Order: sequence, then structure tokens, then C-alpha cells
Amino acid sequence: MLQSQTASVTSSILAGHWENGRRYHAYQSGQYMFPDDELEQERLDVKYAAIHLTYGSKIAFAPLQDPQNALDVGTGTGIWAIDFAEEYPGCTVTAVDLSPIQPTWVPPNVKFEIDDAEQDWTWPENHFDYVHLRTMAAAVRDWPRMFRQAYRHTKPGGYIELQEQDYMGVIQSTSRNPGSAFITWCVQQGKAAGRVGVNLRSIPSAMADLLRAAGFVDVQIQEFRCPIGPWAADKQMRNAGLLQLSAVLDGLEGLSLRLLKFYDEGWTKDELDVLLAKVRTELRSRDCHAYWPV
Ligand SMILES: C[S@@+](CC[C@H](N)C(=O)[O-])C[C@H]1O[C@@H](n2cnc3c(N)ncnc32)[C@H](O)[C@@H]1O
Repeated sequence: MLQSQTASVTSSILAGHWENGRRYHAYQSGQYMFPDDELEQERLDVKYAAIHLTYGSKIAFAPLQDPQNALDVGTGTGIWAIDFAEEYPGCTVTAVDLSPIQPTWVPPNVKFEIDDAEQDWTWPENHFDYVHLRTMAAAVRDWPRMFRQAYRHTKPGGYIELQEQDYMGVIQSTSRNPGSAFITWCVQQGKAAGRVGVNLRSIPSAMADLLRAAGFVDVQIQEFRCPIGPWAADKQMRNAGLLQLSAVLDGLEGLSLRLLKFYDEGWTKDELDVLLAKVRTELRSRDCHAYWPV
């Protein structure tokens, strides 16, 4: 890795790269397809709040005991890293991202670094008690390599935890709305990402196999459904659904703009706009019982 403290971030990285009226990261070796501007940061934080409620406010599922060093790969706005650092004040939390979008007023045990986590890691080997990745399916191109590096840099007895969302949303059979526009969008996004070398699907058993192949043992899977919209019977899940709906409605365009040129042949921006308008109408309907598998 390059010299990577936030303090050394160059002005071009700070300025970002503008395209389609949105700002994207300008880190040279990174290839992330989603924006990093204020609108996207808001989406990330609202999505975080939705997932937090879905998890019953749990920050980590690994049975951590007095962790000393933790790593958050692709920290985004750093919201999880900050919460984790507050919960474990004795732990130094290193949090890395391509985009310099993290706040400066943070607990003293959080250290943000701007770097490409798909390059060789230069943190010490056998160092982290806990490596955390959340909603990184759209970011990581080479999961086997990511897991091999994580294994090498995790202490014996340490943990890796993925809190991943499968970007192929699901419309429940209880739904009176067939949800065709939402599914069309998920399929086009998945195909387009595949064409740029990213697998948007996050299938738990496949991820578990990759973790085992990298050397991790005792791999455990917990599956959650993060509702999109306030349709769940349970009050907490209804609130989670409302937050998730807001994140999706705000995020749809940003998530699609760069990938549009890799949609099936012939897709235009006008067609995308029509599709996204239909997706918004569909997801806003209380009859549409959509969720993300997490
Ligand atoms: C969907 S966001 C998730 C952010 C955060 N983990 C969360 O759950 O809110 C993906 C993040 O990964 C970052 N990212 C993408 N590729 C990366 C890479 N190669 N190295 C470091 N960060 C990366 C992006 O800049 C973005 O902030």
C-alpha cells in the first residue's frame, strides 16, 4: 500500500471525479462503480440504520473478547467503525476506503486510511483480532484474494465477519404486486456489474466456501431479510423497512448511472429513467413485499 494516512491524501483524491452530475472516488487504482457524494453518503448511513435495526442493534456477531486491533474494509462514511470503536474503546480500529468521506471528529481509537484494499496489504501479518466487511459485494472483484489477505493479517483465533447484502432483491409471495420493475432493475444491474468483473450476488454458502478455501474454519452463516418498505408485521422491522425504502429510493439513480452503459444492448438514459420511476412506484406500494437477503 501507499503511504496512506488520511493526512497524506492528495487534493485530486479529495476533489474526486465528477461524472453524470455525481462525484466518484478518484483513487487511481480503485474501480468502484458507485458515487461517493453527499447523496450517496446519506444513502449509506440510512442503509446502515436499516440494517442495524434488522440486526436488533447488534454491531458484531463474532464472539469477540477484548479485541485489540480491528479492520473495517470499505468503511464508507465510517459509521460502523465509529460505533464499533465506541463499543470497544480498548481496540484500535483501522478503517480503509478509496474515498476520503469520513468525519474528522471521531473516537481516538479510530484510524481512517485512504487506500485500495484490493492491492497488497501492508498492515502487519497476524495482527487483527477482527476483520469486518459490510455491503462490499459491489466493490470487491477478487474475493478469494481478499480472503487470503484477510487470513494472513488476522491473528490465530481471530475472526472475519461479512455483513453482506445480496443485490438480487426478492419480492415475497405474499405480495400482491408482482414487482416486475424492481426485479428487472436487479437483473440489469447484476448483468452490467458482471460485465465489469463484479459479482453483485452474495450467496452465503458460496462465500463460506471461499472463506474455508482461504483457511478460515468454523464458518457460520446467519441469514436476515431486510424489508424494503413498511410492510412487515413487526414494528422494528417496519421501521427498518421504512429506512431501507428511503435508502433505495435515494440511491437508485446513483447505483445505476455508471452501470447503465453495461446494461443489455440498446438501453438509454431515458429508458433507465422510466424503469426507475416504475421501481419507485412499485416499492412505495404497501402491497409490494420486497426485501434484500442479508
Ligand atoms: C456500499 S459501500 C459500503 C460502505 C460501508 N461498509 C457500509 O456498509 O456503509 C462500499 C464502500 O467500499 C469502498 N470501496 C470500494 N472498493 C474499494 C477498495 N478496493 N478498497 C477500499 N474501499 C473500497 C467504496 O468507496 C464504498 O465506500
